[in-house]
Amino acid sequence: MFTSVIIPAAGFGERMGATIGKQFLLLNEKPILVHTLERFEQCAEIHEIIVATQRSSFSIIEEMKKKYSLTKLRSPVEGGERRQDSIANALKLVDPSAEMVSVHDAVRPFVHLKEISQSIETARYFGASIVAVRAKDTIKQASTDGRVEKTLNRSSLWSVQTPQTFQRQILLDAYEFAAKNNITATDDSYLVERIGISPIIVEGSYENIKITTPDDLLLAELLLQRFIP
Ligand code: C5P
Repeated sequence: MFTSVIIPAAGFGERMGATIGKQFLLLNEKPILVHTLERFEQCAEIHEIIVATQRSSFSIIEEMKKKYSLTKLRSPVEGGERRQDSIANALKLVDPSAEMVSVHDAVRPFVHLKEISQSIETARYFGASIVAVRAKDTIKQASTDGRVEKTLNRSSLWSVQTPQTFQRQILLDAYEFAAKNNITATDDSYLVERIGISPIIVEGSYENIKITTPDDLLLAELLLQRFIP
């Protein structure tokens, strides 16, 4: 069953304070994005990889393809203003024979192959799946001026990661609905939820961090020393 993965990599990394997108920062002398791409290159269930990034980075992607022998990597597509715009652009170029589409953040290099496979397998049967971990901290809802309004019940809370995988038509329908109704989301699951589908959670690992701020980079260096895909 043909499965494509879309890697949104068009962020500027403002929270990292760097001048290049955090996906291009080096981790053990290799760009974070390459570590991430290698996970999907290694995963037998993935057939093509589509990266969305700034046009000015297209040549970097082409060089990565050659240098790291990333045979599944297609030509890059241009990213958009929001993460979901980047993914919408990539969705248009998914191979017509693809039945399943995964989405995975460029800045999550510590995803395990088992998580990718389980995500695809689950979405195949249930339509949509998301990798997530149980919330470790107590989570509170607060007003914009910092007053606690509500304490949420931790036993039902999950910290959501990627990959998130969908039957292709479900993801297309969700993106069409979001475009028509001006819905903005920080993950694809929310868009799918808005068309009435409840994704199934695949329990993942706390190693699958999203490298966002400078302290994440320090943690990533430590994780890399013992990471087994
Ligand atoms: O901003 P955030 O941390 O949610 O970004 C998650 C992923 O989405 C990153 O890999 C980033 O490069 C990507 N992104 C994108 N297009 C944007 C914003 C973020 O592809 N406009």
